[in-house]
Amino acid sequence: MKRFDEKTVKNLLDQLGGKDKFTMEHSLRVSKLAGDFARHLGWKKENIAKLKIAAMLHDLGKLDIPDEIFCKIRKASTLTDEDKKTIRQHTGHFGILEEYENIPKSVKDTLKYHHEKHDGTGYHEGLRGDEIPEGVKIVAIADYYDTVIVQRPNKVPVGMVPLSKDEAIRIMIENTASRFDPKLMTRFLELILGKTSKEEKEPAKNEDDLMSAGSCGD
Ligand SMILES: [Fe+2]
Ligand SMILES: [Fe+2]
Repeated sequence: MKRFDEKTVKNLLDQLGGKDKFTMEHSLRVSKLAGDFARHLGWKKENIAKLKIAAMLHDLGKLDIPDEIFCKIRKASTLTDEDKKTIRQHTGHFGILEEYENIPKSVKDTLKYHHEKHDGTGYHEGLRGDEIPEGVKIVAIADYYDTVIVQRPNKVPVGMVPLSKDEAIRIMIENTASRFDPKLMTRFLELILGKTSKEEKEPAKNEDDLMSAGSCGD
């Protein structure tokens, strides 16, 4: 068994970047936003550091998604129902972590439960309310916000049009009762609405670079 340490986190992120650079960059943004959110909530420094690592690795299960599916996503091709089912399994399949000992519980929980919803209609296990650990709820909110507000640098598939900050906030408010913990959502909105435009994410600098990770064979 290998030890899980800082080098492990970097190595796993590099592997994710080799598979799909956009997913790796998404993971870094989600980690930063989740950390800011936890700080806003008054979490202790050491717990924020742990949360940021868990957030960085939340989509690590996507390492098990076949390259053909990432190619379809990068080319904005239509995904089959089977492809979508495979993508959803990224919260259940993270075989790579089985090679390591001492993996923090927060990392395992975040991998498994970041697509759970407050009303119990999410996946991997259909957890609801406070059955979902607070750290995972924080990552799930940051994950959703980043996903709706950031655009993949290619043709945008139908249904994946990126939203403006105002639209993202409106959708998140509408979904508060079902998808997110309402108390945490209120605190998240305080954070987002309080951020200056300078602090907000800058658009991808180099589209060719972001498109280059992973070969699609043409
Ligand atoms: Fe995910
Ligand atoms: Fe994600």
